[in-house]
Order: sequence, then structure tokens, then C-alpha cells
Amino acid sequence: MSSFSQSTISALSASHIFAAGDSELLAQAEILLQQRYRQDIDRPHPRHWTPLASALLSHRSVRAFQPQPVPSDILETAVAAAQSASTSLNLQAWSVVAIENAEQKDKVCIGVADQAWIREAPLYLIWLADLARHQQIATARNIERGQPEPDNLDPVVTAVIDTALAAQNAAVTFESFGLGIVFIGALRLYQSALRNALNLPAHVLPVFGLCVGYPDLNRQTGIKPRLPLSAVLHRETYNAAIQIAAIESYDSKLNEYNREQQRDVPIWSDYSVYRLDRMHEIAGREDYNRAIRQLNLASES
Ligand SMILES: Cc1cc2nc3c(=O)[nH]c(=O)nc-3n(C[C@H](O)[C@H](O)[C@H](O)COP(=O)(O)O)c2cc1C
Repeated sequence: MSSFSQSTISALSASHIFAAGDSELLAQAEILLQQRYRQDIDRPHPRHWTPLASALLSHRSVRAFQPQPVPSDILETAVAAAQSASTSLNLQAWSVVAIENAEQKDKVCIGVADQAWIREAPLYLIWLADLARHQQIATARNIERGQPEPDNLDPVVTAVIDTALAAQNAAVTFESFGLGIVFIGALRLYQSALRNALNLPAHVLPVFGLCVGYPDLNRQTGIKPRLPLSAVLHRETYNAAIQIAAIESYDSKLNEYNREQQRDVPIWSDYSVYRLDRMHEIAGREDYNRAIRQLNLASES
């Protein structure tokens, strides 16, 4: 790329940063932040804003879709954005399978069929942590990879982080085109079914799905509030003492939101601990843990 076009792009980005004085945009920021936190005190009060910040703060998971397909060029742009995410050691340790065919959708919905939005979404992406192409390089070039180290989680975590960063870039890109998305983590518990349906080689781990489609605006949910800023933003050192007040405040904000959405959901703090503590009881976890370990094994196990 020429230096001329690079500077044009930089100037373009700079012209989209709005500082104090751009009252309309800062008013939009205030509305978005008010929706996200439902309070005035423990949240940001920005003097700078960008259209991208607006887009990110407008996110909500979409679970009701119109039937029209996602244009193929938008899928490709979203994957290019995914590929533009940072990637540890430039390993690019992920892949994605795009599913639009109804029969194929049926096969990959095994176990998660109760989530009707997966079938309803015209496009379903399955994101894979992928160390198979590195294994392919080693095999093709007779590179000795040493003893498999099943307990070393570093390569697995690296590949899963790469996958998550890529998928989030894609998600934000879809949203920028007016499409809606929802992640599907539940699929991780059906490793064998996915392995068969997608014809996966060893060293590939399905991490989550992503439903994509144009939202059905008649069945739209609200913007879900998040923890107060002080619960997650620590300055210089970690402040554990702040959590109790922040959590109490959040429980009440989320209750208020759930009431508005007419959702009967347990209190966030209690339920979060309950869910974490019961992860060891989830059916399919052995299959998942085995697949996680196998992602990293150098041998074709
Ligand atoms: C890794 C991951 C897995 C998820 N799995 C599911 C899922 O299986 N089904 C679902 O309906 N939503 C799923 N979600 C969406 C979350 O429930 C949602 O992001 C969260 O409740 C916050 O709501 P919001 O996205 O509308 O702000 C998942 C999100 C992530 C990041």
C-alpha cells in the first residue's frame, strides 16, 4: 500500500473521533452508556467517542431472525475482519465452517436443538481452534514434534484465544451490516457429533457456534446491562473490596432488566456461582475435555 493511501486512512480514522463539543454524538454516547449500565455513577462519562464505540455499545444477542440469507460477500468480509484480528505468534490457529444447508444444520444441531434460533438463523458458523494445519506442516516435512505433552495447556489456550478474537471481529462486522448474532457455546458438549458431521481431522476443536441473520425486529430483546465499571476496571492494582457493592448494584439492575423483558431469571450473583459449581456435572464434558487434550497432542491420536 502506498504511503499516500495509508495517510488517507489514518486521516479518515482521526476524523471519526469526536471530542467534547460534538454534542449530538456525545449525547448518543450518554444514551448508550445509560442503557448498558442503567446508572449515572459507576460508568464512563466520555469526552471522546467514535462510531465504532457506538456500534460496540449497541450490541445485543439476537435470537429471532428473518429468513433471508446473509449475502455471501458479507460473510467473506466478516471472515477477512476475523483474519485481521491479532493472532498469537501469527499462528492463525483457527478455522470456521459456514453452514447454510438445512440438512447439514440438522446434523450439527444435535444436542442443541432446543435453541430454536440456530435453525432459524440463515447462517450458522462453527468456530474451530485449529492446530491441524500446523500438524500437516510437521507431517509433510517430517518435522519431529517431540513427546506429546497433554498437560501443557498453553497451545490449547493460545488457539482458543485466537479463535475467540477472530470470531468477535466477525461478529462486530456482521453487526455493522445490520445483521444480528448470537454465540452458541452449548455445541462444545457434542464433540463427537460435530467431528462426524463436519468431517474434522484431529487437532481441531469446535469452540462455539455463531448464528447470523437479519434480526426479526418484532421479537427483539433489550440491551443487557453489565457490571458497574469499577467491578472490572482496576487501576494499578486489583481492588477486590469494590466487588461486593458493585455486585449488589448489578443484581438489582439486571433484575429490573429481566422484569422489563418479562423473563423469570434467578438473581445473577447466586446463579453465576451455581452454574460455575455445576460445570463438572454437565453431560458431554468428558467428551469436551478429551477433545481439548487432543487438540494439543503431537501424535495423530
Ligand atoms: C462463548 C459464549 C457462548 C454462548 N453460548 C450461548 C448459547 O449457547 N446460547 C445462547 O442463547 N446464548 C449464548 N451466548 C450469549 C450470551 O448468553 C450473551 O452474550 C449474554 O447473556 C449477554 O447478553 P448480550 O449478548 O445480549 O449482551 C454465549 C455467549 C458467549 C460469549
